[in-house]
Amino acid sequence: MLDTPLKTPEAPSTDPFALAKALSGVHFIGGRFVPARSGKTFPVVNPATGAEVATAAEGDAADVDAAVQDAARAQKAWAKVPARKRGALVHQCAALLKAHADELGHLIALETGKALRTESRVEANVVADIFEFFGGLGGELKGESVPFAPDVLSVTVREPLGVVGAIIPWNVPMLLMALKIAPALVAGNTVVVKSAEEAPLAVLRICELLNRILPAGCFNMVSGFGPECGAPLVEHKLVRKVTFTGSVETGKIVARTAAEKLIPLTLELGGKSPMIVFADCDFDKTVAGALTSMRFTRQGQSCTAASRIYVERPIFDRFVTAMKDAVNKMVMGDPLDEKTDIGTIVSEGQLEKVKAFIAEGTATPGATAHVCSAMPTDPALKKGLFIQPVIFTGLTGQSRLVREEIFGPVTVMQPFDDAEAVLAEANDSDYGLAASLWTNNLKIGLDLAHRLEAGLVQINQNLVVQANLSYGGVKSSGLGKEASLEAMLEHFTHKKTIMVNMG
Ligand code: NAI
Ligand code: MG
Repeated sequence: MLDTPLKTPEAPSTDPFALAKALSGVHFIGGRFVPARSGKTFPVVNPATGAEVATAAEGDAADVDAAVQDAARAQKAWAKVPARKRGALVHQCAALLKAHADELGHLIALETGKALRTESRVEANVVADIFEFFGGLGGELKGESVPFAPDVLSVTVREPLGVVGAIIPWNVPMLLMALKIAPALVAGNTVVVKSAEEAPLAVLRICELLNRILPAGCFNMVSGFGPECGAPLVEHKLVRKVTFTGSVETGKIVARTAAEKLIPLTLELGGKSPMIVFADCDFDKTVAGALTSMRFTRQGQSCTAASRIYVERPIFDRFVTAMKDAVNKMVMGDPLDEKTDIGTIVSEGQLEKVKAFIAEGTATPGATAHVCSAMPTDPALKKGLFIQPVIFTGLTGQSRLVREEIFGPVTVMQPFDDAEAVLAEANDSDYGLAASLWTNNLKIGLDLAHRLEAGLVQINQNLVVQANLSYGGVKSSGLGKEASLEAMLEHFTHKKTIMVNMG
C-alpha cells in the first residue's frame, strides 16, 4: 500500500490554508492517509476567491474496496468491545473535537464558503455535541426478555449490522457525517464514508482526530465523485447498510442499489419547508426567526430552509418590509472574516442553479424580486461565488420556486387568509422534512402541527437538527430518522432473538 506519512499538525492549527495543503490528495483508510490507487486527484477550491487550496484523492472502486475490506476486518474486533466502552471512546472523541472546533470551523469555511462566525464554527461545535450525545448511549443497546414458555428463555439482543456505507453532501458535511458515524460506531459497526467532492478536507481532518482514540479501520473515508466512488460503495457486497444525505435524484439511485442487495437504507433528501406566520405572533421575534429559519447565513443551502413563507394577510406587507430591512443589515463578505454574516455559494454549478431559479422568478408576471444585502466590494473576493439574498413576492403555489428545492438564499413569501387554506398549501408539496408555525394561539398551533406532513414541526422557533431529537422526513424527503437513540437502535442494529430450551 502506498503510505503517506502524517504531515498534519498535532495541535489545533491556526492556519486553514496550511492545513488544507497538508490534507491534500489522500483518503483515510485503515488508520492512515493513502492516495488514490489510480494516483488521480481533483482540485479543492476556495469559493470566496476561486483559488485552489488543496487537492483531493479521486477515489474509484479499487479505493472503495480497500476501505471496505479494512472496515470489515476492524468490525470483528470492534463489535467485541463492550458497548459502554465503545461509547466511552466515542465520548472521548467529543472532547478532542471540541478542542479542534475553531480549527475545523476555519477549514470548513475555507472549502465551503460558509461564514466562520455564523455557520462554520457553530457546525464544528455541534459535531462535538453529537459525539458526546451518542457516546453516552452505549448502555442503551439493550434487548428484552420475552414471555414464551416457562422452560424456554427467550431474549432479544441488539447486534451491529456490519460495515456501514455513509454518503454525505457538502452543505454541513461535518455535522451530517457525525450523525451517521457516531451512532454507527457506538452500535458496533464500522464505517466507510464517501465525502462530498466540494468539501473533502474538514471531514478528513476529523478522521485523523478520531484515529487518535478509536482503533484503526473503524472508520475510513474515501473522496471522489458520485458515480465513480459513491456508487461502488453502495454496491460493495460487504457493505450491509447505507446511510445517505443529498438530493432526491441521487437518493433514488442509491435506493435502487440497496433494494437489489436487500440492505437497509436511511435517506435524508432535502425539503421545501413551509414557515407559517399568524398575525398574532410575536412580530419582532418572528422576523428574526424568519432569518434563521431561511438559513440566510448559510446562503439557504439547507434542507430545512424556510423557502416558503406564508404570512397572514393583515401583517403581510409589514412582515415583508421588516424582513427586507433585517436581511439588508446582514454583511456579505470573506467567510473567514469574523464580521461576515453571509459567505458564498459552495460551487459554480450550485450558483448557476440558484441564478436560474431567480431569473425564472423575476420573469414571472406579477412577481417582485426583493434583492437584499450588498455584494462584497473587496477586490480579493471579485471571483467569489457570492449572491445576494432574494425575497420573492407575487409568485403563486404553482411556481417552480415554490415547489422545488432551490438550495440558495431565495425564499418566496405569500399571504394567506385562513388556517385550513394555508395548511393545504403547506402540505401540497412532494417534500415533508420540516415546518414551523408562529403564533401565540397554541390551540391552532398544535392542531396544525399534528396535521402538517413533515418529520419535524416547531412552533415559535426553527432550530436546526438537535442531538436527542429524531430527525428525518416523510414523502420525498426521505426514509428513517437520525440524531436520536431510536435512530441508533432502529437504523444501526438489528434485533436478534435467542431462545434457550431448558426443559
Ligand atoms: P447529490 O445528491 O448528487 O450529492 C450528495 C452526495 O452523493 C455526494 O457525496 C455525491 O458525490 C454523492 N453521489 C452522487 N451521485 C452518486 C451515485 N450515483 N451514487 C452514490 N453517491 C452519489 O447532491 P449535489 O449534486 O451535491 O446537489 C444537488 C442538489 O441536491 C442541491 O441543489 C440540493 O437541492 C440537494 N441537496 C440536498 C442536501 C440535503 O441536505 N438533503 C444536501 C446536498 C444537496
Ligand atoms: Mg449531484
